[in-house]
Amino acid sequence: MTSGGDAPGMNAAIRAVVRACAYHQLDCVGIYRGYEGLIAGDFISLDARKVRNIVNRGGTILQSARSKEFMTKKGRAKAYEQLRKAGVDALVLIGGDGTFTGGMVFHKEYQVPCIGIPGTIDNDIFGTNYTIGYDTALNTVVAAIDKIRDTASSHNRLFFVEVMGRDAGFIALNAGVGAGAEEILIPEEDLGLERLLESLKRSKRSGKSSSIVVVAEGDKTGKNVFELADYVETNLSGYEVRVSVLGHMQRGGTPSCFDRVLASRLGVSAVELLLAGKTNLMVGIINDQIHTTNLEKAVKGHHNIDKGLLRVSDIMSI
Ligand code: F6P
Repeated sequence: MTSGGDAPGMNAAIRAVVRACAYHQLDCVGIYRGYEGLIAGDFISLDARKVRNIVNRGGTILQSARSKEFMTKKGRAKAYEQLRKAGVDALVLIGGDGTFTGGMVFHKEYQVPCIGIPGTIDNDIFGTNYTIGYDTALNTVVAAIDKIRDTASSHNRLFFVEVMGRDAGFIALNAGVGAGAEEILIPEEDLGLERLLESLKRSKRSGKSSSIVVVAEGDKTGKNVFELADYVETNLSGYEVRVSVLGHMQRGGTPSCFDRVLASRLGVSAVELLLAGKTNLMVGIINDQIHTTNLEKAVKGHHNIDKGLLRVSDIMSI
Protein backbone atom coordinates (compact mmCIF):
# COMPACT_ATOMS: atom_id res chain seq x y z
CA MET A 1 0.00 0.00 0.00
CA THR A 2 0.91 3.63 -0.40
CA SER A 3 -0.20 5.95 2.37
CA GLY A 4 0.11 9.62 3.43
CA GLY A 5 1.19 12.32 0.98
CA ASP A 6 1.98 10.84 -2.43
CA ALA A 7 5.49 11.17 -3.85
CA PRO A 8 6.95 10.66 -7.33
CA GLY A 9 8.53 7.21 -7.47
CA MET A 10 5.85 5.49 -5.40
CA ASN A 11 4.71 3.68 -8.55
CA ALA A 12 8.26 2.47 -9.16
CA ALA A 13 8.25 1.11 -5.59
CA ILE A 14 4.90 -0.67 -6.12
CA ARG A 15 6.28 -2.18 -9.33
CA ALA A 16 9.43 -3.34 -7.54
CA VAL A 17 7.47 -5.00 -4.74
CA VAL A 18 5.11 -6.73 -7.18
CA ARG A 19 7.91 -7.95 -9.43
CA ALA A 20 10.06 -9.10 -6.51
CA CYS A 21 7.04 -11.12 -5.34
CA ALA A 22 6.62 -12.58 -8.84
CA TYR A 23 10.34 -13.43 -8.92
CA HIS A 24 10.05 -15.27 -5.60
CA GLN A 25 6.72 -16.86 -6.60
CA LEU A 26 4.67 -15.07 -3.97
CA ASP A 27 1.12 -13.83 -4.49
CA CYS A 28 0.78 -10.07 -4.16
CA VAL A 29 -2.21 -7.81 -3.62
CA GLY A 30 -2.31 -4.04 -3.75
CA ILE A 31 -4.34 -2.16 -1.16
CA TYR A 32 -6.12 0.99 -2.36
CA ARG A 33 -6.01 4.32 -0.47
CA GLY A 34 -3.64 3.19 2.28
CA TYR A 35 -5.18 2.23 5.61
CA GLU A 36 -8.61 3.38 4.40
CA GLY A 37 -8.60 0.62 1.77
CA LEU A 38 -7.19 -1.84 4.26
CA ILE A 39 -10.17 -1.27 6.55
CA ALA A 40 -12.59 -1.51 3.60
CA GLY A 41 -10.94 -4.61 2.14
CA ASP A 42 -10.33 -2.71 -1.10
CA PHE A 43 -7.65 -4.99 -2.54
CA ILE A 44 -6.49 -5.84 -6.05
CA SER A 45 -4.48 -8.85 -7.07
CA LEU A 46 -1.25 -7.68 -8.73
CA ASP A 47 1.04 -9.68 -10.98
CA ALA A 48 4.13 -8.61 -12.90
CA ARG A 49 2.16 -7.50 -16.00
CA LYS A 50 -0.31 -5.40 -14.03
CA VAL A 51 2.47 -2.98 -13.09
CA ARG A 52 3.76 -2.38 -16.62
CA ASN A 53 4.23 1.21 -17.78
CA ILE A 54 4.16 2.72 -14.32
CA VAL A 55 7.88 3.09 -13.54
CA ASN A 56 7.73 6.51 -15.20
CA ARG A 57 4.45 7.73 -13.71
CA GLY A 58 4.03 10.19 -10.84
CA GLY A 59 1.38 9.76 -8.16
CA THR A 60 0.40 6.26 -7.08
CA ILE A 61 -1.80 3.80 -8.98
CA LEU A 62 -2.97 2.48 -5.61
CA GLN A 63 -3.91 6.01 -4.51
CA SER A 64 -3.24 7.29 -1.05
CA ALA A 65 -5.03 8.62 2.02
CA ARG A 66 -4.51 9.68 5.60
CA SER A 67 -6.86 7.47 7.61
CA LYS A 68 -8.44 8.69 10.85
CA GLU A 69 -10.30 5.41 11.33
CA PHE A 70 -7.08 3.38 11.43
CA MET A 71 -6.03 5.44 14.46
CA THR A 72 -8.84 3.77 16.41
CA LYS A 73 -8.72 0.24 17.86
CA LYS A 74 -11.99 -0.56 16.10
CA GLY A 75 -10.60 0.51 12.75
CA ARG A 76 -7.52 -1.64 13.18
CA ALA A 77 -9.65 -4.64 14.20
CA LYS A 78 -11.61 -4.25 10.95
CA ALA A 79 -8.35 -3.99 9.00
CA TYR A 80 -7.00 -7.17 10.57
CA GLU A 81 -10.20 -9.00 9.73
CA GLN A 82 -9.88 -7.93 6.08
CA LEU A 83 -6.30 -9.19 5.93
CA ARG A 84 -7.27 -12.49 7.49
CA LYS A 85 -10.17 -12.93 5.06
CA ALA A 86 -7.94 -12.23 2.06
CA GLY A 87 -5.17 -14.50 3.36
CA VAL A 88 -2.62 -11.68 3.39
CA ASP A 89 0.22 -12.48 5.75
CA ALA A 90 2.63 -9.57 5.37
CA LEU A 91 2.51 -5.87 4.54
CA VAL A 92 4.80 -3.52 2.65
CA LEU A 93 4.00 0.06 3.64
CA ILE A 94 5.18 2.86 1.36
CA GLY A 95 4.94 6.29 3.00
CA GLY A 96 6.27 8.49 5.76
CA ASP A 97 6.01 8.96 9.52
CA GLY A 98 2.23 8.49 9.82
CA THR A 99 2.34 5.36 7.67
CA PHE A 100 5.07 3.80 9.77
CA THR A 101 3.35 4.70 13.05
CA GLY A 102 0.26 2.85 11.79
CA GLY A 103 2.38 -0.16 10.86
CA MET A 104 4.12 -0.19 14.22
CA VAL A 105 0.88 -0.17 16.20
CA PHE A 106 -0.69 -2.78 13.92
CA HIS A 107 2.34 -5.02 14.29
CA LYS A 108 2.21 -4.70 18.07
CA GLU A 109 -1.50 -5.54 18.24
CA TYR A 110 -1.77 -8.25 15.59
CA GLN A 111 1.81 -9.33 14.89
CA VAL A 112 1.33 -8.83 11.14
CA PRO A 113 4.83 -8.75 9.64
CA CYS A 114 5.47 -5.38 8.02
CA ILE A 115 8.28 -3.56 6.28
CA GLY A 116 8.22 0.19 5.61
CA ILE A 117 9.61 1.92 2.52
CA PRO A 118 10.23 5.68 2.94
CA GLY A 119 8.23 7.59 0.34
CA THR A 120 7.78 11.33 0.91
CA ILE A 121 9.09 14.41 -0.86
CA ASP A 122 10.11 15.90 2.51
CA ASN A 123 13.14 13.59 3.09
CA ASP A 124 12.43 13.82 6.81
CA ILE A 125 12.74 10.14 7.75
CA PHE A 126 15.42 8.86 10.09
CA GLY A 127 17.35 5.79 8.89
CA THR A 128 17.78 6.74 5.25
CA ASN A 129 19.78 9.40 3.45
CA TYR A 130 17.02 9.74 0.85
CA THR A 131 13.30 9.15 0.67
CA ILE A 132 11.52 8.28 -2.57
CA GLY A 133 10.24 11.46 -4.24
CA TYR A 134 12.66 13.91 -2.68
CA ASP A 135 15.06 14.08 -5.62
CA THR A 136 12.23 14.63 -8.10
CA ALA A 137 10.71 17.34 -5.90
CA LEU A 138 14.09 19.11 -5.68
CA ASN A 139 14.37 19.16 -9.46
CA THR A 140 10.79 20.41 -9.80
CA VAL A 141 11.47 23.24 -7.35
CA VAL A 142 14.76 24.22 -9.01
CA ALA A 143 13.08 24.28 -12.44
CA ALA A 144 10.27 26.48 -11.06
CA ILE A 145 12.69 28.90 -9.37
CA ASP A 146 14.76 29.14 -12.57
CA LYS A 147 11.61 30.41 -14.29
CA ILE A 148 10.82 32.79 -11.45
CA ARG A 149 14.37 34.13 -11.71
CA ASP A 150 13.74 35.12 -15.35
CA THR A 151 10.81 37.31 -14.44
CA ALA A 152 12.40 38.53 -11.18
CA SER A 153 15.44 39.86 -13.02
CA SER A 154 13.36 41.34 -15.84
CA HIS A 155 11.40 43.45 -13.34
CA ASN A 156 14.01 44.03 -10.61
CA ARG A 157 11.81 42.22 -8.12
CA LEU A 158 12.33 40.40 -4.87
CA PHE A 159 10.50 37.05 -4.84
CA PHE A 160 9.52 35.00 -1.84
CA VAL A 161 9.05 31.41 -2.97
CA GLU A 162 7.32 29.05 -0.54
CA VAL A 163 8.19 25.36 -0.86
CA MET A 164 6.82 22.30 0.97
CA GLY A 165 8.23 21.07 4.24
CA ARG A 166 5.93 21.46 7.22
CA ASP A 167 8.56 20.23 9.66
CA ALA A 168 11.69 19.88 7.57
CA GLY A 169 13.84 22.19 5.48
CA PHE A 170 15.51 19.64 3.19
CA ILE A 171 13.67 20.83 0.08
CA ALA A 172 14.11 24.52 0.90
CA LEU A 173 17.80 24.26 1.74
CA ASN A 174 18.93 22.03 -1.10
CA ALA A 175 16.71 23.53 -3.80
CA GLY A 176 17.61 26.99 -2.48
CA VAL A 177 21.33 26.34 -2.91
CA GLY A 178 20.73 24.66 -6.28
CA ALA A 179 18.64 27.57 -7.57
CA GLY A 180 20.96 30.25 -6.19
CA ALA A 181 18.57 31.75 -3.60
CA GLU A 182 19.64 34.85 -1.72
CA GLU A 183 18.26 33.61 1.59
CA ILE A 184 16.73 30.32 2.75
CA LEU A 185 14.35 30.07 5.70
CA ILE A 186 13.88 26.61 7.22
CA PRO A 187 12.10 25.14 10.28
CA GLU A 188 15.37 23.86 11.77
CA GLU A 189 17.01 27.28 12.17
CA ASP A 190 15.64 30.62 13.33
CA LEU A 191 17.82 33.23 11.67
CA GLY A 192 15.56 36.12 12.65
CA LEU A 193 13.90 38.81 10.57
CA GLU A 194 16.59 41.40 11.24
CA ARG A 195 19.18 39.20 9.67
CA LEU A 196 16.97 38.72 6.62
CA LEU A 197 16.57 42.50 6.19
CA GLU A 198 20.29 43.07 6.70
CA SER A 199 21.17 40.46 4.13
CA LEU A 200 18.77 41.87 1.55
CA LYS A 201 20.09 45.40 2.16
CA ARG A 202 23.65 44.17 1.72
CA SER A 203 22.70 42.52 -1.56
CA LYS A 204 21.15 45.73 -2.80
CA ARG A 205 24.26 47.70 -1.87
CA SER A 206 26.45 45.19 -3.65
CA GLY A 207 24.58 45.87 -6.89
CA LYS A 208 21.91 43.16 -7.02
CA SER A 209 18.65 44.33 -8.49
CA SER A 210 16.55 41.20 -7.97
CA SER A 211 16.58 38.42 -5.41
CA ILE A 212 14.94 35.16 -4.47
CA VAL A 213 14.21 34.08 -0.91
CA VAL A 214 13.17 30.44 -0.46
CA VAL A 215 10.86 29.82 2.50
CA ALA A 216 9.91 26.36 3.83
CA GLU A 217 6.23 26.06 4.84
CA GLY A 218 7.18 25.48 8.45
CA ASP A 219 9.87 28.17 8.79
CA LYS A 220 10.51 29.67 12.21
CA THR A 221 9.82 33.37 11.64
CA GLY A 222 6.26 33.05 12.95
CA LYS A 223 4.98 34.76 9.80
CA ASN A 224 3.52 33.10 6.74
CA VAL A 225 5.13 33.85 3.41
CA PHE A 226 2.68 36.68 2.58
CA GLU A 227 3.24 38.36 5.96
CA LEU A 228 6.97 37.98 5.46
CA ALA A 229 6.76 39.64 2.06
CA ASP A 230 4.71 42.52 3.53
CA TYR A 231 7.19 42.93 6.36
CA VAL A 232 10.11 43.16 3.97
CA GLU A 233 8.31 45.48 1.56
CA THR A 234 7.48 47.83 4.46
CA ASN A 235 10.97 47.78 5.93
CA LEU A 236 13.09 47.73 2.81
CA SER A 237 12.85 50.38 0.16
CA GLY A 238 13.82 49.89 -3.43
CA TYR A 239 12.46 46.40 -4.07
CA GLU A 240 9.10 45.46 -5.49
CA VAL A 241 8.11 42.26 -3.70
CA ARG A 242 6.13 39.28 -5.04
CA VAL A 243 5.18 35.90 -3.57
CA SER A 244 4.99 32.54 -5.31
CA VAL A 245 3.67 29.48 -3.46
CA LEU A 246 4.74 26.36 -5.34
CA GLY A 247 2.34 24.06 -3.47
CA HIS A 248 1.29 20.60 -4.59
CA MET A 249 2.96 20.77 -7.99
CA GLN A 250 6.05 19.74 -5.98
CA ARG A 251 4.48 16.36 -5.30
CA GLY A 252 3.64 15.55 -8.93
CA GLY A 253 5.44 14.77 -12.14
CA THR A 254 7.66 12.15 -13.69
CA PRO A 255 10.02 10.62 -11.13
CA SER A 256 13.73 11.27 -11.65
CA CYS A 257 16.05 8.39 -12.48
CA PHE A 258 17.46 8.61 -8.96
CA ASP A 259 14.00 8.09 -7.42
CA ARG A 260 13.19 5.20 -9.76
CA VAL A 261 16.41 3.38 -8.92
CA LEU A 262 15.99 4.04 -5.20
CA ALA A 263 12.39 2.79 -5.30
CA SER A 264 13.42 -0.35 -7.21
CA ARG A 265 16.17 -1.19 -4.74
CA LEU A 266 14.00 -0.59 -1.68
CA GLY A 267 11.04 -2.52 -3.11
CA VAL A 268 13.13 -5.61 -3.80
CA SER A 269 14.77 -5.40 -0.36
CA ALA A 270 11.41 -5.07 1.40
CA VAL A 271 10.13 -8.33 -0.10
CA GLU A 272 13.39 -10.16 0.55
CA LEU A 273 13.48 -8.97 4.17
CA LEU A 274 9.97 -10.37 4.71
CA LEU A 275 11.05 -13.65 3.11
CA ALA A 276 13.99 -13.76 5.51
CA GLY A 277 11.52 -13.53 8.39
CA LYS A 278 12.27 -9.88 9.26
CA THR A 279 9.54 -7.54 10.39
CA ASN A 280 8.79 -4.15 11.94
CA LEU A 281 11.64 -2.54 9.99
CA MET A 282 12.03 0.29 7.55
CA VAL A 283 14.37 -0.26 4.65
CA GLY A 284 16.40 2.76 3.60
CA ILE A 285 19.69 3.70 2.07
CA ILE A 286 22.76 4.96 3.91
CA ASN A 287 25.98 5.73 2.02
CA ASP A 288 24.46 3.99 -0.99
CA GLN A 289 24.00 0.72 0.92
CA ILE A 290 20.69 -0.84 1.92
CA HIS A 291 20.13 -0.20 5.61
CA THR A 292 17.34 -1.29 7.96
CA THR A 293 16.00 0.62 10.95
CA ASN A 294 13.43 -0.42 13.51
CA LEU A 295 10.10 1.24 12.60
CA GLU A 296 9.87 2.91 15.99
CA LYS A 297 13.33 4.41 15.58
CA ALA A 298 12.50 5.55 12.05
CA VAL A 299 9.46 7.40 13.41
CA LYS A 300 11.06 8.84 16.56
CA GLY A 301 14.57 9.54 15.27
CA HIS A 302 15.47 12.82 13.65
CA HIS A 303 17.07 13.09 10.24
CA ASN A 304 19.37 16.07 10.71
CA ILE A 305 19.75 18.69 8.06
CA ASP A 306 23.25 19.64 6.91
CA LYS A 307 23.55 23.09 8.45
CA GLY A 308 26.88 23.51 6.69
CA LEU A 309 24.79 24.11 3.59
CA LEU A 310 23.40 27.31 5.12
CA ARG A 311 26.95 28.61 5.24
CA VAL A 312 27.51 27.57 1.63
CA SER A 313 24.34 29.45 0.72
CA ASP A 314 25.59 32.55 2.57
CA ILE A 315 28.90 32.45 0.76
CA MET A 316 27.18 31.95 -2.60
CA SER A 317 24.91 34.93 -2.08
CA ILE A 318 27.72 37.42 -1.34
O1 F6P B 1 4.27 15.22 3.89
C1 F6P B 1 4.46 15.73 2.61
C2 F6P B 1 3.83 17.09 2.45
O2 F6P B 1 4.01 17.35 1.10
C3 F6P B 1 4.30 18.25 3.30
O3 F6P B 1 5.50 18.85 2.90
C4 F6P B 1 3.14 19.19 3.22
O4 F6P B 1 3.13 20.07 4.29
C5 F6P B 1 1.99 18.25 3.26
O5 F6P B 1 2.44 17.04 2.67
C6 F6P B 1 0.75 18.73 2.56
O6 F6P B 1 -0.23 17.78 2.73
P1 F6P B 1 -1.68 17.77 2.07
O7 F6P B 1 -1.58 16.98 0.82
O8 F6P B 1 -2.53 17.09 3.06
O9 F6P B 1 -2.05 19.18 1.80
